[in-house]
Amino acid sequence: MEFKNLLIETSDSIATLTINRPQVLNALNSDVVRELECALYELDLDAAVKAVVITGAGDKAFVAGADIKEMSEISSFEAHDFARRGQRLMLLINKMRIPVIAAVNGYALGGGLELALACDFIYASEKAKFGFPEVGLGVIPGFGGTQNLARLIGPNRANELVFSGRIINAVRAREWGIVNEVFTPEELLPKARATAQEIAAKGSLGVAYAKDAIVNGMNMTKEDGFRYEASLFGVLFATHDQREGMAAFLEKRTAEFKGK
Ligand code: CAA
Repeated sequence: MEFKNLLIETSDSIATLTINRPQVLNALNSDVVRELECALYELDLDAAVKAVVITGAGDKAFVAGADIKEMSEISSFEAHDFARRGQRLMLLINKMRIPVIAAVNGYALGGGLELALACDFIYASEKAKFGFPEVGLGVIPGFGGTQNLARLIGPNRANELVFSGRIINAVRAREWGIVNEVFTPEELLPKARATAQEIAAKGSLGVAYAKDAIVNGMNMTKEDGFRYEASLFGVLFATHDQREGMAAFLEKRTAEFKGK
């Protein structure tokens, strides 16, 4: 499929997906949300792709939020529908078998922060800035931000960020547990791709099942989560990759995983 607002480049099993509307700081309008959903769905089905890195075009923004110009003209019903479609995109990222890493190169505001939070983890450049300015526009985060941020950093810090609309820098975002690591702007994408490659070298079924256990376990009681983990652990013992991974360890050689 042809994308008007996305650039996708795949090398060494890693897809780098760049949101490409730099003239509006990569703001998410309904077309971009639809394209992201289609692109990620296709990448997840592509056996040659083992991880995705998402970033923003230009040197200023990852994504500066949902497109305010488009939103300023929509009805209440359309706004509800827009939020649900944005949320479906965020849930798709959770459901994908392959990991998705956000490489936040500048502003990640509103829907941009929501997109980053939906990813499996976030790397940031020293120039990155994070915040939820929605209350200053008379609305609230609508792409899952209230739910994902509070689950990630707890309600108190989430309340402060969402109620104040304040923008925080990358170091503070790391202190608060939003960001895993902060790099120089030049290092950001190489570091994100290097981690993606480290993951790609592992058994892809193990990675997919680990993601499934963590994402779904977060919504379960601990006991149910443990039971779910054990069932996924057991299923993996029916795979080539488990036999190969353990045989390679015992034979002191590198495993050749097949994803089956
Ligand atoms: N939607 C549409 N256009 C946007 C945009 C957005 N979210 N963010 C920036 N732009 C546009 C600007 O309108 C401007 O366009 P023009 O050149 O045509 O005027 C262009 O991008 C460059 O932006 P600025 O001139 O404003 O750049 P700046 O460096 O002065 O400021 C900024 C940067 C602080 C990020 C500022 O652009 C800004 O505050 N943007 C809006 C951030 C925001 O409120 N995001 C939340 C949106 S609501 C949301 O996301 C809801 C949800 O949860 C689903």
